[in-house]
Amino acid sequence: MGENHPIASALHLLGDILEREKSRSASVHVSSESYTRLSSLPGELLQLNRRLSEKEKKPVEVEVKPEVKVAEPADVQPNVEPRSSIESAPEVGVEQDEKWIRKQLNEVYRKVKGSEECRALGTLFETVVFAVGNPCADLMFVGEAPGAEEEKQRKPFVGPAGQKLTQIIQAMGLSRDDVYISNIVKFRPKKGDGRFQGSSNRKPDPTEMAACIPFIRREIELVKPKVIVALGLTAAEGLLEIGGTLSNLRNETHSFDGVPVIVTYHPSYILRQEGEGNPAKAKRAKRLVWEDILRAMEILGMPISEKQRGYFT
Ligand code: URA
Repeated sequence: MGENHPIASALHLLGDILEREKSRSASVHVSSESYTRLSSLPGELLQLNRRLSEKEKKPVEVEVKPEVKVAEPADVQPNVEPRSSIESAPEVGVEQDEKWIRKQLNEVYRKVKGSEECRALGTLFETVVFAVGNPCADLMFVGEAPGAEEEKQRKPFVGPAGQKLTQIIQAMGLSRDDVYISNIVKFRPKKGDGRFQGSSNRKPDPTEMAACIPFIRREIELVKPKVIVALGLTAAEGLLEIGGTLSNLRNETHSFDGVPVIVTYHPSYILRQEGEGNPAKAKRAKRLVWEDILRAMEILGMPISEKQRGYFT
């Protein structure tokens, strides 16, 4: 505990008060109530100190980042004000940056919406599904393309695979608002002309991913994550422009414009394994994904408990 630590300062102050009282009279009167309080102080201080040092250990940036939603197509508000607690600290540069990043992301959203290249393909639906989460996040998840549920809600990863992703994020000790979630392709891919597609989905093809890659590149440039997790082989291929099998790609940390990229199985892979009614296989799939997530947490310098290390073993 350094001398500037709040507990040390409080103890110094208490010492000064007692010294002053003692210099006035031979003894210092302490009421029975104060005596009881002072007797329990060491235990309370220990607890407080533990709480404070726990706080210091946490990855501050992830913890304190304000929960700001990134441009959501239905209600893009380039000038949405930050939350009031942030407004009251105008001299701090962080929220200025955040406001600027949000504005730039809205600009990317507008470019996606007006993309002639994507429209000319004729293979994608019209609705833009952009990104959600924290525009200053250290951790970015990148999927392949939205499905029916995502298109309906105009938000990425909100269908069944999205719910799995949410569980993964929560297992890390974070919430969806702490991270940035996006896709390479910003429109749901059509099957045929899309007229009889119903709720079925398909993966984007390399041409569709190539048309959308400038958007995700710009998002990465703006958000500046410390690590990207590519969800599934298609996302990894689109982002990294490499081929291979997922089991090979997940063995190393890749790089996208200098940002470390971890490749892991798509959450829908876990869903498929769970659906097969083989609990051992489902647990194995979860463990593989979890091992990749632990590597991302290590890159971020996040604290990892023993319990977390042992998930799905
Ligand atoms: N799969 C993806 O890759 N992205 C989504 O948004 C949903 C499912």
